[in-house]
Amino acid sequence: MKATLLLATLAIAAVASAAGQTFLEENFTDDAWEDRWTTSSARENLGKFELSSGTFHANKDHAQGLQTTENHRFYSISTPLSAVVDNSKEDLIVQYTVKQEVSQECGGSYLKLLPEGYDAKAFNGDSEYAIMFGPDVCGNDNRIHVIFNYKGKNYLTKREFPVPRDTTTHLYRLTVHPDQKYSLMVDGEAMVDHVSLEADWDVYEPRTMPDPDDAKPEDWVDVIQIEDPDHIKPENFDDVTRYIPDPEAKKPEDWDEEADGEWETPEIMNPEFEEWTPKYISNPAYKGEWKAKEIPNPDFVDHPDFSHYKIGGVGLDLWQVKSGSIFDDIIVTTDAEVADKYVGQWKENFAKEKELVAASEAAKEEEVRKEKIAAAVAARQKKEEEEKKKKEEERDELDDDEEPEKVTESKETKEETKEETKEETKEETKEETKEETKEEVKKETKEEVKEETKRDEL
Ligand SMILES: *[C@@H]1O[C@H](CO)[C@@H](O)[C@H](O)[C@H]1NC(C)=O
Repeated sequence: MKATLLLATLAIAAVASAAGQTFLEENFTDDAWEDRWTTSSARENLGKFELSSGTFHANKDHAQGLQTTENHRFYSISTPLSAVVDNSKEDLIVQYTVKQEVSQECGGSYLKLLPEGYDAKAFNGDSEYAIMFGPDVCGNDNRIHVIFNYKGKNYLTKREFPVPRDTTTHLYRLTVHPDQKYSLMVDGEAMVDHVSLEADWDVYEPRTMPDPDDAKPEDWVDVIQIEDPDHIKPENFDDVTRYIPDPEAKKPEDWDEEADGEWETPEIMNPEFEEWTPKYISNPAYKGEWKAKEIPNPDFVDHPDFSHYKIGGVGLDLWQVKSGSIFDDIIVTTDAEVADKYVGQWKENFAKEKELVAASEAAKEEEVRKEKIAAAVAARQKKEEEEKKKKEEERDELDDDEEPEKVTESKETKEETKEETKEETKEETKEETKEETKEEVKKETKEEVKEETKRDEL
């Protein structure tokens, strides 16, 4: 019976995924995007979006996306889906990429899924949305938001998803499963996979609670450690006193008993003295921390329609201190294959982007190294010139019968010194840059390992 049911469920799932539908596939390949997207008129002076492939890319056409172009601006723009999505029976996939070429100090790059019947002209930060999803960065505070609106209130996830912080393109996918579960993917890797919404959103009260009528039994032992009963203080333990007269102290020869009083030997800490310390052992009777037994929570209410929506559009409603975010390949679909196609494309391009970044970083390092050498050489030259000038001034002050031979000699010496110092400076700078680079690489790898461990933990 159970097996048949399971098979039937699987069959339905298979049919559902095969019959998936794509409601938005926006890859910004043409100028007609302006006809598809509506800029809000709810606010003046909104930041401008423009098509851009960025300053570096693996594939210019693939890389072209919608870029924010003005600093310190609000951005508000939206596009309708081809049909209203009802995600109560199917997986809903929202996926897109963001490239942050200029390091973002404070700004969002998230999407808002807008409810059926939303008003594109009136769209603004206060407009009700169904789901908000994507990176948000401000100072050290950075997270990938997953916010669900439920009965007019916005619920943030309790789980922390850090935002990858570099200049390459990153891919974000949220899948909302109809059975109150969700999956989140960053750069093709699962951060969570079919995790229950109940675990990560506070919209639910806990299912159980500690029984208020349950009491700790009187014989419950929760003392973890006790004094070792076999460790007994020897009777003569305190016989050695704590202070003794200093054996090296001597009465000063000029001590005057009449004026100074009777001389007393000063005391010192007895090196043989030992404080008695009892030994502790684990309590064999320890039962653990007492906890009341759990009973069903009468306040628990199921929310089977939490995360179920009728979605009509996608909006970008942002505030950015630094512009330059490039949004691309925005997909809203119930067909995983369509979203997967873009993951494959992203993977190929990402590998190339990383190579480009590495090459440009190496070139920058080389540039810095050269600048350092040039600066060091210039500093030496300046110093030498100053010394020369000083010497000339000193010479002018001397009598005119100075021997001309001497001058030539010192010139030669100077030439030699110059050569030597140049060589030294080069060597030094080389060593320094090597050391620095090593340090940086070490730091970076540490950071990466931390990041990876975090992700693994998730
Ligand atoms: C861009 O999107 C259109 C659908 O809007 C699709 O037909 C086309 O294949 C996409 N291009 C790429 C490079 O994926």
